[in-house]
Amino acid sequence: MKIFAYGIREDEEPSLKKWEENNPDVEVEYTKNTLTADSARLAEGADGVVTLQTSAYTREALEVLKKLGITKISIRNVGFDNFNFKDLNDLGFSLTNVPVYSPNAIAEHTVILMGRLLRRVPEFDQKMDNGDFTWSPTIGKEYREQTVGVVGTGHIGRVVIKILQGFGAKVVAYDVYHNQDIEKQGLYVDSLEELYKQSDIITLHVPLFDSNKHMINDQAIEQMKDGVYIINCARGELIDTNALIKGLDSGKIAGAGLDVLDNENSVFGKVWSSVENIPDEKIRNLAERINVIITPHSAFYTETAIHNMINTAFDSNKELIEGQQPSTLVDTKA
Ligand code: NAD
Ligand code: COI
Repeated sequence: MKIFAYGIREDEEPSLKKWEENNPDVEVEYTKNTLTADSARLAEGADGVVTLQTSAYTREALEVLKKLGITKISIRNVGFDNFNFKDLNDLGFSLTNVPVYSPNAIAEHTVILMGRLLRRVPEFDQKMDNGDFTWSPTIGKEYREQTVGVVGTGHIGRVVIKILQGFGAKVVAYDVYHNQDIEKQGLYVDSLEELYKQSDIITLHVPLFDSNKHMINDQAIEQMKDGVYIINCARGELIDTNALIKGLDSGKIAGAGLDVLDNENSVFGKVWSSVENIPDEKIRNLAERINVIITPHSAFYTETAIHNMINTAFDSNKELIEGQQPSTLVDTKA
């Protein structure tokens, strides 16, 4: 059996090596390139592919794999919004993901972004760069005075809630499906509008679908409290960047913590040397603001997460090739 892997980084190699040692019956080959129509040819002779990328998986790339007789794909991450399910189904592909590699990684990052905004850390950092050891005007706010609206109470949202409760914050939550534990605690509100109305901080933890693209738009922001903070560690396209910029300009939004951005693939993973060189005008606009914290889709990026992503993805691909039904199988027919 042979598995070909795409987008393998240096930091993944030790975990991959261990997986290979534990699975001597599987031949593994890999490239650091992402899966495209061109690179798909590299998988010739493999029975399945393992991959990770934030750019789109094109139909052309899938067609090349199909011609090579490969129809089993295992991604090393949670979100599969960069696949077109129709393409997968038309071409007869099976897809697995890693639904739970470390929700804590993303949840901790989320709460850290909130804390950095609440305690105005970027402003203190800027002052310190100038040798300024004064307090004013960078007075902060405490978590226990905040109502945090958590949109999406899946694996990550629930850990966010737990951490926030440890800090003494009040939590309200919204999800299309209710989790029993969150329900028992009485945290759910009935609508997004209600969550927007009550929250001092709003944090997004839902997958991206066509139906919720730009869910944070002018109308949603209109329903929020004045001086709201918005955190997004889910998917950039959930927020209409124009509306966010408008809200920041007017002061309606006090600040934002963004691990993901609409059009992030145009800037993330590259070194621009200075903010002025960022080519995407809207991202540059956000990056220039002291009350906006941007991280390069790195919420997931911990040692534990990387190890689990490799193990689960390769295990799943092996199971697919053996004709088993892995628990990580994505329902592409839904
Ligand atoms: P999950 O599937 O466990 O939870 C998602 C929750 O969202 C579910 O409870 C679901 O019922 C709910 N939901 C779906 N559509 C909704 C809607 N329209 N309105 C309200 N709730 C809705 O997923 P998770 O592991 O918690 O991850 C959430 C998202 O975080 C992923 O889909 C992915 O896009 C993103 N993510 C980002 C990073 C990162 O590094 N920044 C890492 C992992 C995941
Ligand atoms: C995910 O797991 O869905 C992420 O967003 C992490 C990223 C490496 C794609």
